Amino acid sequence: MSDTKKTLTLITGADRGIGFETAMALAKLGQHILLGSRDRDRGIEAVNKIKDAGYDAELIVLDVTSQDDISRAQATVNKKYGHLDILINNAGIALDNHKDAAILSVDVIRKEFDVNFFGTVSMIQAFIPLLKKSPSAKIINVSSNMGSLGLASDPNSRFYKVSSLGYQSSKAAVNFATITFAKELADTHITVNSVNPGWTATAFGGRDTNQPAPVGMQSVQKGAQQIIKLASDPRNDLNGTFTENEGTLPW
Ligand SMILES: NC(=O)c1ccc[n+]([C@@H]2O[C@H](COP(=O)([O-])OP(=O)(O)OC[C@H]3O[C@@H](n4cnc5c(N)ncnc54)[C@H](OP(=O)(O)O)[C@@H]3O)[C@@H](O)[C@H]2O)c1
Repeated sequence: MSDTKKTLTLITGADRGIGFETAMALAKLGQHILLGSRDRDRGIEAVNKIKDAGYDAELIVLDVTSQDDISRAQATVNKKYGHLDILINNAGIALDNHKDAAILSVDVIRKEFDVNFFGTVSMIQAFIPLLKKSPSAKIINVSSNMGSLGLASDPNSRFYKVSSLGYQSSKAAVNFATITFAKELADTHITVNSVNPGWTATAFGGRDTNQPAPVGMQSVQKGAQQIIKLASDPRNDLNGTFTENEGTLPW
């Protein structure tokens, strides 16, 4: 068993976008990154970028919709380290293209739930035993302001008129998982929180990153900021929260 003294952090969907930015930043802060990618080649490329910069990372091939992949990842981390300090459930997809709920395919909604919600819950369930072996552990669920029921039902919110039923309800479900696990694990040293990155210039939702980012879209550095802040905070005293760079969000 490898005895790393570094904080051991597993990030799903970390070969690009907010996940990669978070991985690089946390590696720079001295954490050992287990970089989740469902594509081996892209995962190796991402790991090498972190190593070439002089920091620590290793690849975990992981599709969060595959129970086999999750079990294999858990077994690998268990055998090599025997514990996990931080799990960042970042992998996510949005496929609705703002179609009206009346015509949105249920198959599309199901796919979004498979990755965003069931993937997150399956990862948490699989890794709780290893997180329990850390002296201070964190689960950070990358959610979205699009999943806030409070904002979606507030006529004064810009989200009032937004309609992406599959994505929004899957992220609302992620938030429910955060609340549920935060309560269930409250008497352990594992905290569970949701974070909203905000509207961020990645390839998310099929955006062509060769095109200029729309006005108001923030940089990937800004998008990863609150996740990095939570993951690197030595206090670990927040539990059951939903936050973004600007503060707390309504559930
Ligand atoms: N960008 C935004 O405006 C925004 C706003 C609010 C919340 N978020 C949330 O932030 C998170 C990261 O988004 P992003 O903007 O960085 O998106 P991104 O650039 O599209 O990256 C998403 C990552 O998730 C991975 N992924 C997708 N399906 C997966 C699966 N089944 N198993 C494992 N990994 C999978 C992708 O891998 P592949 O390359 O293999 O597909 C990719 O690495 C998501 O949870 C998203 O909902 C984003």
